[in-house]
Amino acid sequence: MIDILIKNKEYIIEITGYTGEGEGVGRADGEAVFVPSAIMGEKLKVLIVKPLKHYAYGKIIEIITPSAHRVEPECIYYKKCGGCVLQHMDYSAQLEFKRIRVQDALKRLGGCDTSVEPVTPSPDIFRYRNKAQLPVSDAGIGFYEMRSHNVIDINDCLIQNEVTAKIIKVVRDYMDKYNIPAYNEEKHNGIIRGIFIRNGSNTGEIMTCIITRTKDLPYKEELVESLSKIENMTSIFHNINREKTNVQMGKTNYLLWGSETIKETLCGVEFHISPLSFFQINTKQTEQLYAKAAEFAKVDNPQTVFDLYCGTGTISLITAQNVKKVVGVEIVPSAVENAKKNAERNGIDNVEFFLGKSEALLPQLAKDFSPDTVILDPPRKGCDINLIDSLNKVKPNHIVYVSCDPSTLARDIKNLQGYQVEKVVPFDMFPHTKHVECVVLMSRIKD
Ligand SMILES: C[S@@+](CC[C@H](N)C(=O)[O-])C[C@H]1O[C@@H](n2cnc3c(N)ncnc32)[C@H](O)[C@@H]1O
Repeated sequence: MIDILIKNKEYIIEITGYTGEGEGVGRADGEAVFVPSAIMGEKLKVLIVKPLKHYAYGKIIEIITPSAHRVEPECIYYKKCGGCVLQHMDYSAQLEFKRIRVQDALKRLGGCDTSVEPVTPSPDIFRYRNKAQLPVSDAGIGFYEMRSHNVIDINDCLIQNEVTAKIIKVVRDYMDKYNIPAYNEEKHNGIIRGIFIRNGSNTGEIMTCIITRTKDLPYKEELVESLSKIENMTSIFHNINREKTNVQMGKTNYLLWGSETIKETLCGVEFHISPLSFFQINTKQTEQLYAKAAEFAKVDNPQTVFDLYCGTGTISLITAQNVKKVVGVEIVPSAVENAKKNAERNGIDNVEFFLGKSEALLPQLAKDFSPDTVILDPPRKGCDINLIDSLNKVKPNHIVYVSCDPSTLARDIKNLQGYQVEKVVPFDMFPHTKHVECVVLMSRIKD
């Protein structure tokens, strides 16, 4: 097919759907046009900026009929930043976009017609994040521009905790005062690559990691002195990443000041978290999501539950209160250490954690412990096909799938044999962004 839509030509289009990235979708001369910042139902004058083989990208020139859900974005960086792509929609429209996104993915990629429940709103829609990862470059400290690695220099971010702005200021002042060069991704030179911040929303504790390309962090005593004065600072690390990669954090951490971990509580259980351990970024919403996962994991009163991809043992420890035995599997060594200590500290002794790949350990662990229910909470890329194959052999009665990507969730559901999807409950873990989290209950069809 040749490009039908002409670059730089204007079309009037009506938005009838969304892409998974949050762009509006309409048609011009029968061809699909993806339009950022558009809302379903709107009539727009659109300039074609990038015609491709099967669709085109367009840019809004004029909003002829605005949606009743259109709002003025609160963030001054909205137009540039690749993060909060839905800030032009009111919150109800964002939730509906996410519900449709899950429903479409399940149907199109998973062949699954189960109706998706309304998206559980986030208790806070601003200042909800407990983690910030800020790249540093010659352009400044901030976030990446949409579809690029150009850093937008920011002073604050409305979805981050207020402490983020204070830490940015301290690091910026330190770099200016001591002439410390920022990292240059292309040339792989310079020193400061990024800042990583965690805060316990329920405890107030704060962790800061300064990421460098070099082994040395010049004037570190001076930097630590300023950072440690920030109220509730609990832990300051130096993280070293010498690789030429766009992954920010390296694997080596040196504690410069304070504690090795910060504390956070979830559903009444206390967790200690290291810099490299996974921890959900929206604490209040996580409590609602984990409560749902624990409720699904209780169905039919299982004796033994597996929590695969268990991180610091969060879901394992919350679920352990209702069942006889929980077995957790996780690939990051420090997370497994955190998980074991978290169990000890909370006096939970019916949980065992194993270090390794879930796909590698499941076959043997299933022989040893015979799970009735398996919880899956993989990263965005979903489950390894070998894990799905093992589950098809192990045949647990129920699978509780916690997913942060509807497409890989749908693919994995399709590959699981002999299960029916009972419930799909989406949670808005990341307001204003395109992302959506789901908890799915699957039950074995009797053979
Ligand atoms: C989305 S997180 C979930 C963690 C935990 N369930 C929670 O909610 O805090 C996914 C976790 O899977 C781990 N992981 C990634 N690949 C893995 C694998 N093949 N086997 C086991 N764990 C893995 C990651 O390190 C991360 O901790």
